[in-house]
Amino acid sequence: MPGNTFGSAFRITTYGESHGTAVGVVVDGCPAGLELGEEDIQRELDRRRPAQSVVTTQRAEKDEVKILSGVFEGRTTGMPIAMLVYNKDFDSSPYLELKNKPRPNHADFTYAVKYGHWDWRGGGRASGRETVGRVTAGAIAKKLLAKLGIEILGHAKEIHGIGVGEIAIEDIRKNAEKNIVRCADLKIAKKMEEEILKAKKEGDSVGGVVELIALNVPVGLGEPVFDKLDADISKALMSIGAVKGVEIGAGFEAAKKKGSENNDAFYVEKGRVKTLTNNSGGVLGGISNGMPIVVRAAVKPTSSIAKEQKTVDLEKIQNATISIKGLHDPCIVPRVLPVCEAMLALVLADHAIRAGFINPAKL
Ligand SMILES: Cc1cc2nc3c(=O)[nH]c(=O)nc-3n(C[C@H](O)[C@H](O)[C@H](O)COP(=O)(O)O)c2cc1C
Repeated sequence: MPGNTFGSAFRITTYGESHGTAVGVVVDGCPAGLELGEEDIQRELDRRRPAQSVVTTQRAEKDEVKILSGVFEGRTTGMPIAMLVYNKDFDSSPYLELKNKPRPNHADFTYAVKYGHWDWRGGGRASGRETVGRVTAGAIAKKLLAKLGIEILGHAKEIHGIGVGEIAIEDIRKNAEKNIVRCADLKIAKKMEEEILKAKKEGDSVGGVVELIALNVPVGLGEPVFDKLDADISKALMSIGAVKGVEIGAGFEAAKKKGSENNDAFYVEKGRVKTLTNNSGGVLGGISNGMPIVVRAAVKPTSSIAKEQKTVDLEKIQNATISIKGLHDPCIVPRVLPVCEAMLALVLADHAIRAGFINPAKL
């Protein structure tokens, strides 16, 4: 069974390859009546766009989105919303070699063996370019969530071991979009930037950690037992290329604590039940508990690097070496951040419809 569709009530199917004609998405299950224009989507796509700074790939794509269906007189009709972005700036020649010499830690080897015939240009379907469709759909999900007052924030928490500790929501709102690495602490942002540029100069790459916070999520999103909210969030983030770990709340740190240290004590504030701490990251028993949803994703260092590496020649069945050319992100964190936000928005919108917070037919 293919795996190009995600979601249940709010469902997306992404399509397109890195060096094909276009990339995009079909969104099914968006209720009628949501005000939607290309500018709403473009804002989010511009945050994911390549060539936005010296720490991203220099592939010169404008990523201009076209809405093909499902919107009439500026509002959604409840019908499938098809959206498209043409690929314009690509050179497939460096990839000819990679077809038979798979890049270590990229998808070339597994795609070659599993499919035999596949579009290997620019990583094809396994390229970060596939995430254009996710961000495009995520922009709609974000608009839908805004109707419930839900806001999603993201920031670069760590890059190659350089990180920020506890960070105030206000600092994320104020600073994260004001620097090229998307860190909420401007001094640390500079250090992160230098670390990426150093790796780039060495023909290498670095990874990091993205943190997401969803505010004002009501109690009740999540469908136990297999569609628990945290389970769906984990799948959503893990489905993004280069994400190799997901934590909710205290995550792996919780494993080091005693129950008395990890438990989030309940209290009442202005008639609302809250918790004093948020080690559970806003999810209990797979259901949102009304506290902020806090999620982190570990992003590996970009696998395509200029430094010479060992690989194999799949045609000659012998050992080989490669030095990867082409346009690549020296660190994926700044560009994957809007993708992670989009995936979280898609999960929350899907569950908000499933739990009855949003009428599936019309707003
Ligand atoms: C926004 C984005 C940009 C990416 N840019 C690159 C890149 O320039 N070079 C590269 O080798 N991988 C890049 N990747 C990661 C690959 O898509 C990913 O490593 C590959 O599909 C293998 O999947 P895996 O890392 O999940 O195993 C990017 C991913 C995303 C989400």
